[in-house]
Amino acid sequence: MVSVALVGLGDIGRGAHLPALLRSPGVRLVAVADPVAAHRSAAASLVSDKVAVGSSLDDALAAGPDGVVLATPPWATPELAIAALRAGRFVLAEKPVATSVAAASVYLGLTDDERARLQIGLTYRHDPAIARLKSWIDDGVLGGQLLVRAHVYDEARMAGDAEHLERMRRTLAHGTPVVHEGAHVFDWLAHLLGPGLAVDDAWALRTDDDLPAPNLTGARLSHPGGHQVLVEFGWLTDALPRCELTFLGPRGLATLDGATFALRLSTAAGSENVEFPGDRSTRDFDLQVDRFTALIRGDTDRPDPDLAAGLAALALAEQVAEQGVTA
Ligand SMILES: NC(=O)c1ccc[n+]([C@@H]2O[C@H](COP(=O)([O-])OP(=O)(O)OC[C@H]3O[C@@H](n4cnc5c(N)ncnc54)[C@H](O)[C@@H]3O)[C@@H](O)[C@H]2O)c1
Repeated sequence: MVSVALVGLGDIGRGAHLPALLRSPGVRLVAVADPVAAHRSAAASLVSDKVAVGSSLDDALAAGPDGVVLATPPWATPELAIAALRAGRFVLAEKPVATSVAAASVYLGLTDDERARLQIGLTYRHDPAIARLKSWIDDGVLGGQLLVRAHVYDEARMAGDAEHLERMRRTLAHGTPVVHEGAHVFDWLAHLLGPGLAVDDAWALRTDDDLPAPNLTGARLSHPGGHQVLVEFGWLTDALPRCELTFLGPRGLATLDGATFALRLSTAAGSENVEFPGDRSTRDFDLQVDRFTALIRGDTDRPDPDLAAGLAALALAEQVAEQGVTA
């Protein structure tokens, strides 16, 4: 058993990290912390009374955890991650690793030992659908050069949910949807195609004047392997297009449902659907905890995904954001 503290008890902290930590047979949850009293009490009602409930990272560290999960906003995460690493703990830090490449420069001061204890919460990289897709691409099932289209539409505007609207507006003020969602998508693309994606051009659109930043954005990117990639990200319209990624090559088309990760492969030989058990979020948060506990136990000395993956995805997302706004 490894002991773990969860810091950040908002939407994803309470909704996904906490249940995954409680489900894991290899984890003893020792502390939860958040500065917001309502978030603390909501989490406290879900855990045993042996779990310390505090308001800060320092409170969580006082419980002596081996590892700390940071489900905090990207403008708070870098400072917390560095403090927990310097306190000798293992850290699983939510993506994006920061709100900008400049803000992420604080990570450059980490020692090799500290970096080796930092796993990034690029959760869906762990999904077996990504591994299956990678095997189709690597084995040439789709053919050589690919046209990849990633349409990532999430977080519709729910006019009746003031808390959600406020949280999304606050997040948008710290970067267009590509900074937040692109962290995942550019990580999948680097994992599936290999590194080297470069932004050709980008666009951005603010659909309501009172939004703090453009809420729809996209780009065209090229890959040194000859692949073309078209990405779109969108939030905060009353209705949203389908969330889907397609990989089209001369010999086949692979379609990944962006919400469920159900896969479909169509080739001249016919079509097949591939679905993995359980829902995507439960599956991937459990796999993520397994990898984090393996890192803490010393079963592996390589965090997966590591800081370099988080920084690479952030750098690409920032280029799209900047080129989109100036286009
Ligand atoms: N991996 C995924 O699938 C996934 C999904 C959704 C969100 N996220 C990421 O998770 C992060 C959190 O998102 P969210 O939607 O849960 O946001 P949220 O605002 O609902 O929750 C963040 C929580 O962190 C707390 N917090 C802020 N500063 C803190 C500090 N200094 N110390 C301790 N706690 C602090 C807040 O009070 C809040 O409760 C974001 O970076 C987001 O991009 C990841």
